[in-house]
Amino acid sequence: MLSKTAQIRLVSSHPEVYDPCDDSFALVDALLADRSNLLEHRPSICMEVGCGSGYVITSLALILGKDSSGCYFIATDINPHAVGVTRKTMEAHGCHADLLTTDIASGLEKRLAGSVDVMVVNPPYVPTPEYEVGQFGIASAWAGGENGRSVIDKILPVADKLLSDKGWLYLVTLTANNPSEICLQMMKKGYASRIVLHRSTEEESLHIIKLWRDLDTQLEVC
Ligand SMILES: C[S@@+](CC[C@H](N)C(=O)[O-])C[C@H]1O[C@@H](n2cnc3c(N)ncnc32)[C@H](O)[C@@H]1O
Repeated sequence: MLSKTAQIRLVSSHPEVYDPCDDSFALVDALLADRSNLLEHRPSICMEVGCGSGYVITSLALILGKDSSGCYFIATDINPHAVGVTRKTMEAHGCHADLLTTDIASGLEKRLAGSVDVMVVNPPYVPTPEYEVGQFGIASAWAGGENGRSVIDKILPVADKLLSDKGWLYLVTLTANNPSEICLQMMKKGYASRIVLHRSTEEESLHIIKLWRDLDTQLEVC
């Protein structure tokens, strides 16, 4: 039987690129658990912000399987090495995505506005001094600034611009990131949300949030 997630032995690596870890596995497990909804959703455009090794976007393509034929995949990373590694990982699994070295989705806002049906993000979420955020190389994989929210808080408004009316966002967060506050903040923009997976590891307590536009939510907040 064909694997529904990227196989670690086929996932490429580089010393400056984040290897798939507990957070990556939690995100893919959340996608797998939501597979039947994803298949029914029939996304036309799937996007990953911060693709690292490509484990997540490749797994998403495999989870959608043959139902994703005609679906356009795109992934970005601020780290150019990550883009190269993701390309190799996708190729090794017979998948394809357009890959871009850029800050979040800089340069794509016009092209993708209101058209992304599924966005997946495992952001740098570790609370660190602010000066560590956005540094070149592997440090950009985890440095999240105050409360680990610096990059997350930049990604959320971009996601709001890019997601289609039926768009879904799957976002990895830590307890320290205050996931409930993220949900509340997005609720004010008309998003419903649910923690679709909670996993405590030795080092961290991970929450995968799924967010989607919901007209009733917007009305309730108004
Ligand atoms: C925690 S790693 C996750 C990597 C991969 N998605 C995974 O789950 O294994 C975060 C990734 O986000 C990238 N990143 C950090 N800041 C970014 C930004 N401003 N724009 C795009 N990517 C960024 C990092 O280079 C890193 O590859």
